[in-house]
Amino acid sequence: MRPYFAAVLGSAALTLGLLSSGAAHAQDATAGQAIFKAKCNFCHSLVPGQRGVGPSLLGVVGAKAGTTDANFHYSDALKNSGKTWNAATLDAYLTDPRGYIPGVKMTIKGLPEAADRANVVAFLGTLKK
Ligand code: HEC
Repeated sequence: MRPYFAAVLGSAALTLGLLSSGAAHAQDATAGQAIFKAKCNFCHSLVPGQRGVGPSLLGVVGAKAGTTDANFHYSDALKNSGKTWNAATLDAYLTDPRGYIPGVKMTIKGLPEAADRANVVAFLGTLKK
């Protein structure tokens, strides 16, 4: 690509990013991967069926809660929650896991920054079984 076009595209992307950061958060799967490694990987693998303290999260976006990892012993609270994981439900869950689904076995407090939640959900959404 010629430098001129790259510069125009770059500034257009920057403008879009700035405009969208207010209402909807600009989602960044690469930033989300870093958050996943720092805050989630400790308990969650991305290898199918490889459970740790928590279930494997490969393919979790779009799945019904408590069904993604067949090898994991989910809590009844999560299995019976009736939730399907999408951007909205994951955002609510990651804000306050046990506030959103009382009795769930995931004991972290949650991610306080909306942008962090959006990014980690964007990252999880890039991973399909
Ligand atoms: C201290 C360990 C731990 C950490 C850290 C942790 N989780 Fe969890 N997570 C769990 C456990 C345990 C469960 C299963 C909960 C249950 O069965 O009640 C779970 C469940 C989940 C589920 C639901 C999975 C399904 O199949 O329905 C999602 C989504 C999830 N975690 C995302 C995350 C993300 C994203 C992070 C990082 C911000 C994270 N978790 C950090 C332990 C953890």
